[in-house]
Amino acid sequence: MRAALKTIELKKIYSRIAHRYDWQHGLITAKSDQRGRRMVVDYTVHPGDAVLDAGAGTGSSGILAAHKAGAAGSVTFFDLCDEMIAVAREKVAREKLGAAIDFKSGDMCHLPFADYHFDVALSTYSLCPLYDPARGVLELYRVVKPGGRVGIAYSIESEQPLMKWLADRVEDIAWLIPSLSMGCRAIDVLPAIQQTDARIVMDKSIGIPLWPFRVIIIEKPDGF
Ligand SMILES: C[S@@+](CC[C@H](N)C(=O)[O-])C[C@H]1O[C@@H](n2cnc3c(N)ncnc32)[C@H](O)[C@@H]1O
Repeated sequence: MRAALKTIELKKIYSRIAHRYDWQHGLITAKSDQRGRRMVVDYTVHPGDAVLDAGAGTGSSGILAAHKAGAAGSVTFFDLCDEMIAVAREKVAREKLGAAIDFKSGDMCHLPFADYHFDVALSTYSLCPLYDPARGVLELYRVVKPGGRVGIAYSIESEQPLMKWLADRVEDIAWLIPSLSMGCRAIDVLPAIQQTDARIVMDKSIGIPLWPFRVIIIEKPDGF
């Protein structure tokens, strides 16, 4: 796994690209990013849920979640970078959302929420730049209630040797320009998930052959 960029560097990059992020991420992923967000939300969020979107960025997943959670639900948009949150705020203001909305900044490896606080915790593409993706997913798991769900989408390495070789070369170039790579790299958090008592509800690969994503949905046993 490629070493993560420093958090302070990530903060600078995302603050610089916040206004073009949706366009740039969509272009790099040939728009397959939105499919991952939809899957994660469709398989986790129910009406009335309290949802955390961690590493929410410009809020694309959180907005989908807010539509699904409805007037009885709530969504907390959480991100490291204030400029990304500012764009999320603008987008939220343009939507007709019934759900209660909250914005918070901080580090998703140290979530400022109590255990069992949310019904659902989401991370779409925000574990990829994280300095400790395993810790990030365990934090998501910590803050969901028994019976709650965690939905994540993240970049993985292609299983096709030629595609992997090609992706590595493209990534080598992209990583010379941090605002292009956005610090995103292929990761694997399944081993961390497997150390918990989580039930894996779904584990699917999506995306284009050059940039595959893994979508994982897990559920916390409800203790009965
Ligand atoms: C690739 S973007 C994903 C944004 C959004 N979830 C999406 O679906 O497009 C990665 C996001 O993770 C955020 N991020 C990076 N490190 C973080 C950290 N330690 N804690 C919280 N957010 C972080 C960045 O600021 C950025 O908004």
